[in-house]
Amino acid sequence: MKKKSVILLIMGLQLTMLMGACGNKNQEESVQVSTEAFAVESTETQTGESVTAETEESETIETDSNEKENETKMEETDVKEESDFANVSLAELYKDDFLIGVALPDPLCKQGSEVEELISKQFNSLTCENEMKPDSLLDQKACQADLNETYENPAVHFDNCQKAIDFALAHDMKIRLHTLVWHSQTPDWFFTEDYTKDGELVSREVMLKRMENYIKNVLTYFEENYPGLIYAVDVCNEAIDEGNGDENWVRKVDNKWYDTVGDDYYYQAFVFARKYATEDMKLFYNDYGCSSKSEQIISHLAKAKEEGLIDGIGMQSHLKTSDNIGVKYLNTVKAFCDEGYEVQVTELDIGISEKNETNYLRQARKYKILFEGLKELREEGRPITSVTVWGLDDAHSWRKKEYPLLFDEQHEIKPAFEAAALSEKIPAIE
Ligand code: GLA
Repeated sequence: MKKKSVILLIMGLQLTMLMGACGNKNQEESVQVSTEAFAVESTETQTGESVTAETEESETIETDSNEKENETKMEETDVKEESDFANVSLAELYKDDFLIGVALPDPLCKQGSEVEELISKQFNSLTCENEMKPDSLLDQKACQADLNETYENPAVHFDNCQKAIDFALAHDMKIRLHTLVWHSQTPDWFFTEDYTKDGELVSREVMLKRMENYIKNVLTYFEENYPGLIYAVDVCNEAIDEGNGDENWVRKVDNKWYDTVGDDYYYQAFVFARKYATEDMKLFYNDYGCSSKSEQIISHLAKAKEEGLIDGIGMQSHLKTSDNIGVKYLNTVKAFCDEGYEVQVTELDIGISEKNETNYLRQARKYKILFEGLKELREEGRPITSVTVWGLDDAHSWRKKEYPLLFDEQHEIKPAFEAAALSEKIPAIE
């Protein structure tokens, strides 16, 4: 952004000089000016910056040229600082605090892609945005092919996540396995007698067997083939939901786990996960809006916690700039830690309503509060072990209209990135 300003300021200077030299602006000069502007824009685009040359250019023309020279000098200093920032690696910066993760859609998990270097430089933990969810791992054809064999023991396959596994191995990244038991992205056919979409739902007993074997098959596959690769498992996602839940807030609406197993399905998932997980696979409950339902989460997980079935709580953290991060959010992190849970931030993004410098700065401040706060809590000894952003760049975000991530559509550093890297230029104020 700063580099853009410098170039545009220089453009402005050139324009002012041109106008001064020629007295009045004729058609030819306009052509010359716009050609020049185009040339600058093209260069910028090649380096990945998006420019709004016209607006910034006209602002510059109105300024006095001496003032501009000074500004240009100041900006040049900033440019140097910014290029220093471009060398910062979040993974490196936080290596003594927590892992820094990214959730990637399948097309970005590609060796040889233009973002491969950026990903491997910035992150040391990887989450598949979709490829390790039940609808990716369950194999309907194989389930239906031999019902005698699969009735209680669902068939799984790992074709969809192979690229991500290879990517992680190639770059020495660890994987968060997201997610085993969830009401969403889990096919309806998984819950029926004959593994067809409209079949009759199976009994609680049968579904518990399927749950156990599904968890067993998935965890055993990783244990046997890639020991040590999975460091955290989202055993259950989004089971506590006041608006869509029963009288105890257990997710009931559109939830086949609830329909078949019943209101303790999330607890059962931890029973089986503990049975088959290795010691280095930490078991997590993952949810959104944790700051508004932390007490309910804690009380629902208490039994699993007492029995040693769960290690941590994953806070999704899909946030907005109006959210109170400094007090409400960080107090929730503290509350979970103080209950004896490890905490991971699992799906971080902070949305803004529209893209402009003010909102970019607002967003950056929130990122700063969050990262600075987590680091402080970590330094006080609280077990915050991983922070994952839900996507690499704004173009590949599920909230792309809210520009919520650390890199822009061209994979360029945003103020949000500098804030996450604890830039002194960005104040940590709400
Ligand atoms: C939830 C899930 C994620 C993802 C997002 C939307 O937060 O946990 O897996 O599906 O919704 O992208």
